[in-house]
Amino acid sequence: MLRFITAGESHGPGLVSVLEGIPAGLEITEDAIRSDLARRQQGHGRGGRMKIETDYAVIQSGVRHGRTIGSPISLLIENKDHFTGKGPDAKPWTETMSKEFTNADFTPIHRLRPGHADTPGITKYNQLDARNILERSSARESASRVAVGAICRKFLSEFGIEIHSHVLNIGGVSTDNNQPIDWKLVEESPVKCADHQIGMLMVKAIDEAREKGTSLGGIFEIVATGVPIGIGTHIQWDRKLSTQLSAALSSINAVKGVEFGSGFLLANLSGHEAQDVINPMEEWVEDDKGNVRPWQRNSNNAGGLEGGMSNGEPIVMRAVVKPIATMIKPLPSVDLTNGLPVNAHYERSDITFVPACGVIGEAMVAFVLSKLFLEKFGGDHIDETRSNYDHYISSIGPHSIKLEDGI
Ligand SMILES: Cc1cc2nc3c(=O)[nH]c(=O)nc-3n(C[C@H](O)[C@H](O)[C@H](O)COP(=O)(O)O)c2cc1C
Repeated sequence: MLRFITAGESHGPGLVSVLEGIPAGLEITEDAIRSDLARRQQGHGRGGRMKIETDYAVIQSGVRHGRTIGSPISLLIENKDHFTGKGPDAKPWTETMSKEFTNADFTPIHRLRPGHADTPGITKYNQLDARNILERSSARESASRVAVGAICRKFLSEFGIEIHSHVLNIGGVSTDNNQPIDWKLVEESPVKCADHQIGMLMVKAIDEAREKGTSLGGIFEIVATGVPIGIGTHIQWDRKLSTQLSAALSSINAVKGVEFGSGFLLANLSGHEAQDVINPMEEWVEDDKGNVRPWQRNSNNAGGLEGGMSNGEPIVMRAVVKPIATMIKPLPSVDLTNGLPVNAHYERSDITFVPACGVIGEAMVAFVLSKLFLEKFGGDHIDETRSNYDHYISSIGPHSIKLEDGI
C-alpha cells in the first residue's frame, strides 16, 4: 500500500516526509522535486516567508544511483528561517523553537487567532502557548506534501498521466472554466490564471486587499488526464476514488469545499442534461497504444468519475479556500490568560495563496491516483506494474457477448 507521513514545525529546523510503497526502478532526482517545490512558493500575494525560503528536498533514503529501490523514500527540507530569521519577539527562531528547556524570556502566544487551529488546539492538547499548536497547523507542512507529490507525479508520468492546476477565482474575480487550457500560459501567470486579462484583475484585487490590511480566498481547479478507466472501486465507500480525492483535497489547510466535474451546478440541470451520454464511435480507431474503444462521451459533467471509479475521461476537481485568517488589520479576539478582549496575535502572513493551493492540490491528487493505481496494478518493480498495466489496457475494447454463455 502506498502511504506517506510528514513531520516538522513551521519554524523548526526542517520538514521530514516518508513515502512508502513506490515500486523499485523508478527514475527520480532531487531536481525533479525541486521544480514543484518552487511552484508552491510562487504566486502574487505570498508573504515574506517565501522570500526567505528556497525549498529543496534532500533525499535521505529509498533512492540509489538515480532509481528507487523499493524501500521507504525519506525527504528532508530545511527551514532556512529557523537559522536566519527572527521571531515576532525579535529572538532567533533557534531560541524560540529550542528543543532544550531555556530560561529565555519570550512571550507565549495567548491572543488567540480566529480561523486557526489555536483555540481548539490549546484546549485539546492542554497548552498555554498557542505556538505549540500553530507551528504544526501552519501550511508550511504542505512543502512536504508537494515533495512527496512530485515523486508520485513522476511515477504517474510513466503511464502517461498528467496533473495540472489553475486558478478560477480570487476574491470574487473569476474566469469561466473554458477548456482547453494552455498550461504553459497558466504557469507564466502570476496568479496561475489561464485568462491573462482576468489574471491581471486578480493581481489588482490582491494589491487592494493588501492596502486594506485584509486577505482573499478563491477557487482552484485540478485536471488529471490519461487516467485509465477503472481506477478506484464501487464496492466499498472508503475505497472509491471520489472518496479519497475529496478527502485529500479537503485535507489542505483552508479548503472549505470540493466538487467534481460540473459539481454544484448539476443542481440546475435536468437528468437528461446532466449525464454524459455514451455514444458509439463513428468508426473504431486505435489510440497510440493500439487500443480500441467502442464508445465516446461528448461531455464530462461527471468530472471523469462514475461509481467511485475513473471512467477514462479527464478527472476534473475544484476546491474553494477561505480568505487567509491572519491579517495586517487583526481580528478581535480574547486573551487566553484573562479572558479580556484583545486583537488577535499577528504572525507574518500571506495576502492570498490560491495558486499555491493548486500546486498542493496537484500533489495530493498525484498521491491518491498513485495509491489506487498501485492498488489495481501492483508491482514491486515498475516493470511489473507496467506489464500488468499493459495487459489490462489491451483488454479494454469491444467484446462480442453471447447471451447463451451467460453474463
Ligand atoms: C499554501 C498555504 C499558505 C497559507 N498561508 C497562510 C498565511 O500566511 N496566513 C494564514 O493565516 N493562513 C495561511 N494559510 C491557511 C491556514 O494554514 C489555515 O487557514 C489554518 O491552518 C486553519 O485551517 P482551516 O482553515 O483548514 O480551518 C495557508 C494555507 C495554505 C494552503
